[in-house]
Amino acid sequence: MKRRLRSGMSAGLLAVAACIALHSPYSLAARDAQTILKETCQGCHTPEANNALSRISHQRKTPEGWLMSIARMQTMHGLQISDEDRRTLVKYLADTQGLAPSETDGVRYAMERRLNTVEQFDDQTSQMCGRCHSGARVALQRRPAQEWERLVNFHLGQWPSLEYQALSRDRDWFDLARKEMVPLLAKRYPLDNPAWKKWQSSAPKSEALAGDWSFSGHLPGKGELAGVMSVTADGSDTFKVSVKGQYADGTPFNGDGSAILYTGYEWRGNVSIDGVTMRQVFAAQGNAMQGRMFEAEHDERGLDFVAAKQGSQRLLAVQPGYVKAGSETEVTLIGSGLSGKPNFGKGVEVVEVVSQSPEQIKVKLKAAANAQPGLRVVTVGTLKGPSLSVYSKIDQVKVIPEFSVARIGDGGGSTPKVQGRFDAEAWGKGTDGKPYRIGVFPAQWKVEAFDDRAKEDEDVKFAGTMQADTGVFTPGDAGPNPARKMSTNNAGNLKVIAAVDDAGKSLTGEGHMIVTVQRWNNPPIP
Ligand code: HEC
Ligand code: HEC
Repeated sequence: MKRRLRSGMSAGLLAVAACIALHSPYSLAARDAQTILKETCQGCHTPEANNALSRISHQRKTPEGWLMSIARMQTMHGLQISDEDRRTLVKYLADTQGLAPSETDGVRYAMERRLNTVEQFDDQTSQMCGRCHSGARVALQRRPAQEWERLVNFHLGQWPSLEYQALSRDRDWFDLARKEMVPLLAKRYPLDNPAWKKWQSSAPKSEALAGDWSFSGHLPGKGELAGVMSVTADGSDTFKVSVKGQYADGTPFNGDGSAILYTGYEWRGNVSIDGVTMRQVFAAQGNAMQGRMFEAEHDERGLDFVAAKQGSQRLLAVQPGYVKAGSETEVTLIGSGLSGKPNFGKGVEVVEVVSQSPEQIKVKLKAAANAQPGLRVVTVGTLKGPSLSVYSKIDQVKVIPEFSVARIGDGGGSTPKVQGRFDAEAWGKGTDGKPYRIGVFPAQWKVEAFDDRAKEDEDVKFAGTMQADTGVFTPGDAGPNPARKMSTNNAGNLKVIAAVDDAGKSLTGEGHMIVTVQRWNNPPIP
């Protein structure tokens, strides 16, 4: 069963404030974590053998996860702790009781704040646990059965009305949670896992991340970008960061900031790009960094980011990743340690190498008129990875994301609008009849009423404005609107339509966007 990500319902303001703190390096010489645990946690958490504390020592989670637990101690149990001590504890707990990289595989979208992700969990987990918050919040924790059971007890104790809600009142939620979910969770997400032991003993030293990184990115509504991120060590597990890049259309992407490394690979940065603070949530391992970089105040405005350390050899991307049969185009290869002449496979010829450095190779390509449609593996010397699509005609257009949520905001309120941001993806049909992705194309955008109800309520008129040439949708103001039926707010139910031109022929794709009310509660892990 597919379920959409929803925000949690806990007291969130504090968590948001704390989230900002998570991305900023903390000063050293603070009280050490053991002292803080003793002095601020031990009052309620009982000491156990081996320097352990009840509950706290029997769980592993992400830095965001630890932050949320401690924030809950503050909002619900009256814990008093300074921001500095909390930062020290989050760092210590994430380092000593974190998750191995492989344990976060497939669920990093929650930390990366890709809030339009459609999750894929089994029906029971989605209904029992994934209806109030993301399933990823569950999958990003490791506990023994006893700790999963205590978590279930805590849920019912804290929110007794849980049992009367939809997807609970139709079943014996508490009984199912204890008898079926607890064993399942303990088996799927166990505290003891060889992957964690292995990571703890083999994690590289964080200083190894210092150096220059060649990066490639893509921002929906804007396009591709590339550049260099310079990282210098600035204390233990903290860094200074400087970014110099450029979008394909020439817009600069420059800025400075700082970053902190948790658990040996969880990179959290804060970089100001042209005065706008952007967060970095990356997995940094060896010579590779990957994740998402998004605006602190608008996490819907974010770019997919991948980087390779200079001095290593890696081919990251080909921008743009397609060429039309019978035509010429200029593409840029992004990577590190690039040398030699690139090869684009059968039917595609390099007409000219426009410029070449170890980080970027710009070439003019020509695809033969009879080049077979489909994907080609791109190589530079022994390096390969990204592919180039050759197409002769576009078969269909997809709106990405296919389903999304935008939110009204501002209008005198404290919550900013959440935009809709879309890409038009062109797909071709291979000689085998199978569809293949060509790439992101420029498109003309509009919205229409999703159904009769939306038409009758004039949602198109009130819910917001679609920018025709970028696919960026800005919702309407928050608050009641006297011009609407019963003075309702500017919510809406819309079709998102992209029209892509292919040699004079217009092809359209369609997505679905709900424009809804503000997210009042915005915890670090949704
Ligand atoms: C005033 C009492 C109090 C203090 C002080 C306190 N806690 Fe707790 N803690 C609780 C209670 C009660 C629970 C069980 C209910 C819950 O999970 O909210 C709990 C549960 C937890 C859990 C388990 C949560 C889960 O999801 O299973 C963690 C982790 C935790 N505390 C961490 C800490 C840390 C770290 C500190 C010190 C910075 C701390 N607590 C200080 C009362 C406290
Ligand atoms: C009624 C809504 C609801 C349901 C159903 C629900 N949760 Fe939660 N859960 C919450 C809320 C709210 C919080 C946030 C508590 C906080 O941190 O303020 C939470 C927090 C959590 C946390 C983080 C706790 C921590 O401190 O580390 C985990 C893990 C979790 N839930 C797992 C589950 C699992 C597993 C299930 C199914 C057995 C489940 N949840 C079902 C509402 C729900």
